[in-house]
Amino acid sequence: MTYRVRSAEQRRTEIQAQAARLGIDEAFISKLVDTFYDRVRADARLGPIFEAEIGDKWDAHMPKMKDFWSSVAMNTGRYAGKPVPAHQKLAGVSAADFETWLGLFKQTLIDIAPSTETVDYFMQRADRIAKSLQLAMYGLPGLPTRP
Ligand code: HEM
Repeated sequence: MTYRVRSAEQRRTEIQAQAARLGIDEAFISKLVDTFYDRVRADARLGPIFEAEIGDKWDAHMPKMKDFWSSVAMNTGRYAGKPVPAHQKLAGVSAADFETWLGLFKQTLIDIAPSTETVDYFMQRADRIAKSLQLAMYGLPGLPTRP
């Protein structure tokens, strides 16, 4: 096994080159986030969960989510928030809801992304983040919890 040691700067340059090759830019991120949240809000189960929490603050939520995906997909460093506490406070959100979220995100990508590689690129990242959010919310299934 060989390890490549890359500086943060090299890593950023490589990620940005890969994203550009996959047709990912700020305009695509903006369209992805707009289309995805339109669908989330129209979803019978997820819609009410988001409306209850976000209420009249969608104007702040949308640019935040564009910054988040810009940072995740293009390493732009535009997002500096804390997703874990934002989700830990959501009582009543289940693992099945995460599957619904991921399904809507994937279908949105299938509908608008320039290639299947672009779909995979986003889904690898979304799956990984969804797992870590669930780990923070529910712990490891099967492990005993403290009394
Ligand atoms: C069923 C699954 C999910 C539900 C119901 C949900 C719901 C929410 C809600 C209601 C907020 C707003 C919280 C607030 O403003 O106080 C939020 C914020 C956020 N969500 Fe989710 N979410 C889900 C899954 C995900 C996934 C899978 C990701 C990433 C791949 C994600 C990324 C984020 C981020 C980055 C924020 C902004 C946090 C911040 O900086 O304030 N969410 N989510």
